[in-house]
Amino acid sequence: MYRIVERREAASSIKLLKVLAPEISKKAQPGQFVILRVDDKGERIPLTLADWDTKEGTITLVFLEVGVSTRKLGELREGDAILDVLGPLGNPTEVRNYGSVCIVGGGVGIAAAYPVTRALKAAGNKVTSIIGARTSKLLIFEEEMRRFSDELYVSTDDGTKGYKGFVSDILRSLLQKGCTFNMVYAVGPAVMMRAIADVTRPYKIKTIVSLNPIMVDGMGMCGACRVTVGGKTMFACVNGPEFDAHEVDFTELIRRQTAFLQEERMALELWEANRRMAIREA
Ligand code: NAD
Ligand code: FES
Repeated sequence: MYRIVERREAASSIKLLKVLAPEISKKAQPGQFVILRVDDKGERIPLTLADWDTKEGTITLVFLEVGVSTRKLGELREGDAILDVLGPLGNPTEVRNYGSVCIVGGGVGIAAAYPVTRALKAAGNKVTSIIGARTSKLLIFEEEMRRFSDELYVSTDDGTKGYKGFVSDILRSLLQKGCTFNMVYAVGPAVMMRAIADVTRPYKIKTIVSLNPIMVDGMGMCGACRVTVGGKTMFACVNGPEFDAHEVDFTELIRRQTAFLQEERMALELWEANRRMAIREA
């Protein structure tokens, strides 16, 4: 069991949990993730590590409540426990001095971009960060990102904070103005990562994305997380989760991510109905 020592709302519907997991915190590196199960009936949820503290023995997880499992996770309180947390999984980010790098984080993906930003800054890079959310209330980790960025740009889809538009619009305009980056790193929704890949392709800038396909075992055995990269089948859990953005088949990734959308919606409706009934009966 993994005890929750801190719980916060990072933004509306985005929760932050600090979980006691000393063995994971000791080995954690930027870009890695864990797979957890809330209870014995829960599905396995992959979450990129947003932070860790080896002294406290904790890891920090940030997630958007979208389906039954993440809603159940969001209902846990400080002192409650998560049944199991497996990790750290996946290959760490290749952290080195590239020169000038641009980090792009979209939505809840900003939390996943944070440890990568911190590590690339510590490696001596000039770091330009671009973070974006649908609206200002959903913008997370702004101060954390600012702390390790030489420049930080903010966008919201509705214009309630920063530039009105997508993170990819900001990157495009920086490149058009003559900014040069030796590496671009993007994490967020697949459509955003595809847009970033399209922006950097003509400039031939090395672009890395952290993919988030459906995962089950996290061990390379179930095949749930398969993605096509450079025409080859890869398993995001063991070969990734980071890949060359210009080689990823995003159309297939998006199709596979949405394969169980209807079932997920039905499960959520049923869970909410049962919950309402339980509250009425209590
Ligand atoms: P969202 O839909 O609110 O989008 C966040 C931002 O991404 C937007 O504000 C915009 O700037 C950009 N964006 C969205 N659509 C775009 C498009 N068509 N073109 C260009 N830019 C676009 O994001 P959310 O609801 O917070 O979801 C975040 C996603 O990040 C989830 O799908 C989650 O699974 C994923 N994620 C991935 C990882 C990972 O390690 N790969 C980690 C955390 C989260
Ligand atoms: Fe099963 Fe990657 S999650 S192979």
